[in-house]
Amino acid sequence: MTVTSPDTAARAAGLLSRPVAINGLTVPNRIAMAPMTRMFSPGGVPGEDVVSYYSRRAAAGVGLIVTEGTYVGHDSAGLSDRVPRFHGEEQLAGWAKVAEAVHAAGGTIVPQLWHIGMVREQGQAPYPQAPAVGPSGVRTDGTEGRGEAMTQADIDDVVAAFARAAADAERIGFDGVELHGAHGYLIDQFLWSRTNRRTDAYGGDPVARTKFAAEVVAAVRAAVSPQFPVIFRYSQWKQDAYDARLAETPQELEAILAPLAAAGVDAFHASTRRYWIPEFEDSDLNLAGWTKKLTGRPAITVGSVGLNGEFLEAFQGRGAELGGLDDLLDRMERDEFDLVAVGRALLQDPNWAAKVLDGRFDELVPYDAASLTSLS
Ligand SMILES: Cc1cc2nc3c(=O)[nH]c(=O)nc-3n(C[C@H](O)[C@H](O)[C@H](O)COP(=O)(O)O)c2cc1C
Repeated sequence: MTVTSPDTAARAAGLLSRPVAINGLTVPNRIAMAPMTRMFSPGGVPGEDVVSYYSRRAAAGVGLIVTEGTYVGHDSAGLSDRVPRFHGEEQLAGWAKVAEAVHAAGGTIVPQLWHIGMVREQGQAPYPQAPAVGPSGVRTDGTEGRGEAMTQADIDDVVAAFARAAADAERIGFDGVELHGAHGYLIDQFLWSRTNRRTDAYGGDPVARTKFAAEVVAAVRAAVSPQFPVIFRYSQWKQDAYDARLAETPQELEAILAPLAAAGVDAFHASTRRYWIPEFEDSDLNLAGWTKKLTGRPAITVGSVGLNGEFLEAFQGRGAELGGLDDLLDRMERDEFDLVAVGRALLQDPNWAAKVLDGRFDELVPYDAASLTSLS
């Protein structure tokens, strides 16, 4: 953070502590925790340490927690036995405790439902016998050969797995769900032309490439109550292709987002690595800003909020202009987006949200990657 003035503190408190509605849910303030894979759930079961990791952040002012990606119930969904699963009795019992504790701390929480598609090799846990599957059996680097193109039956199975997970989320006390459609994982593999080479109804132009995602959204929508929020996270960038783009123009973006909104998305989470970068020419709007403008749905922004310049230089190999708190607040004032998700700054400091809401900027601590090594 670059700012310590009393004016900024008052503005931050005023703008960030307003409640906001996503369908039937009222989030108590504008600060969300970004989903972050932690791999601290042996056997896919979130334990007591995971319960306190999330509830500590809810108690310290995070309004909406989006959990780390958690695998839907399909054998090909994941690649680690330490990533929590959102299926199985023990796993869901663990998650129910997480939701209960976050509520007791005054927060709201949605699980991020995840299928990684071709970002796995056959032989990886938790289901080593399962093949890697994706729209065309093509990896995100464009290589072919060790995966399978999904049949219609595979597609129907995975869509059903997302719907089951969403129904379970509502049943065990979560406040909504977020579908992981970002960063080059399964849903995004359908959206992206590099990984989707299908010639059937699921491939071709951007609208056809959106068909799988829209089917997931519609199935999830049908599996939960009408007021239960369905959030869709998407990105232009991919885990191993930072420059990738799904849409070069607002029109192309609208072609992707409109069918998703029509299928029942209540809010979009537009994942960018630096929130202050304009998405298209001739406008300051970032990806979340465009998403809100094009769909009329609430939007969550994310990307390097609360990280300092040294961090960006050291870890991204270049100097980057810092999006300071004033810039963030200006954008909120203009209604560019509705919530701001914070990732690494909240890993580093469970009390980040409370400090920002209280104007205690001098107590913020710089991010250190060592925070990844424990669930503190
Ligand atoms: C350790 C780590 C794990 C992550 N895991 C996920 C994930 O499971 N799902 C997801 O959508 N994004 C994931 N991300 C991306 C974050 O949600 C977020 O978009 C990114 O860190 C940028 O926000 P930040 O600059 O505030 O950290 C992860 C990021 C980090 C640092």
